[in-house]
Amino acid sequence: MVAALSIRQLKKSFGPTEVIRGVDLEIAEGETHAVIGPNGAGKSTFFNLLSGALLPTSGDIQLKGRSIVGLSPTRVLNLGLARSFQTSNVFTNLSVFENLRCACFNQARAGYQFWRSAMTVRRANRRAEEVLALVGLEDLRAAPAGSLPYASQRALEIGITIAPDTGVVLLDEPTAGMSNAETGRATELIRRIAEHRTLVIVEHDMGVVFKLADRISVLVYGEIIATGEPAAIRADPRVKEAYLGQDAA
Ligand SMILES: Nc1ncnc2c1ncn2[C@@H]1O[C@H](COP(=O)(O)OP(=O)(O)O)[C@@H](O)[C@H]1O
Ligand SMILES: [Mg+2]
Repeated sequence: MVAALSIRQLKKSFGPTEVIRGVDLEIAEGETHAVIGPNGAGKSTFFNLLSGALLPTSGDIQLKGRSIVGLSPTRVLNLGLARSFQTSNVFTNLSVFENLRCACFNQARAGYQFWRSAMTVRRANRRAEEVLALVGLEDLRAAPAGSLPYASQRALEIGITIAPDTGVVLLDEPTAGMSNAETGRATELIRRIAEHRTLVIVEHDMGVVFKLADRISVLVYGEIIATGEPAAIRADPRVKEAYLGQDAA
């Protein structure tokens, strides 16, 4: 079977600094893959390369067997890969529902249409309703996005990311800044999202990682030092030394 994502010898430099240093990774269709690693390891940069926000210095990225290097984020989205952002990217003055509707339209418009047919509007409305229920924000549908409590705002961001219903979704630190109870609810939401798609998640909370991930990659200074199933990663001495040990200390 063709991998959902196949990454070969991926490199990215900013000026003289090589931030991604030859990453090789295959992610299977339907897999939930966690990327962990210390601050500044290059996790968000890696996601920016995958989503088309940044152009790699060298190497290849294939989405379902097709190279996406050099394509715009909109094109990559349209080919089936969506990413969330670590920081808010919601329209704060628009309602929760309007934000979700806009996210549905973005996908529809990326599909080379000059105008929105009534059909497209209906489809976007229906999809926005679905996503609203999925992320559990029905009670807040009319609230301006900027007025939401923090955890609900993060849930809305996840909703915006999955609204176009792509086969591959990248979530960058979706539980950052949440309380334990909020993290628990977010984990259940992410689990529901992962059921029907390929999910790549950057996550600092090891509890969340070990609950959700089929496999884990450990990124340290721009290199993947280990990839494997959670039990193997937990037991890997290099990982303990480079990352997990540091967490326990
Ligand atoms: N646009 C940029 N220009 C220059 N340096 C960058 C840029 N983006 C990220 N970096 C640097 O790349 C390194 C990795 O950053 P990042 O990918 O955000 O790490 P992580 O998400 O793992 O914390 C950091 O040293 C950061 O300062
Ligand atoms: Mg980051």
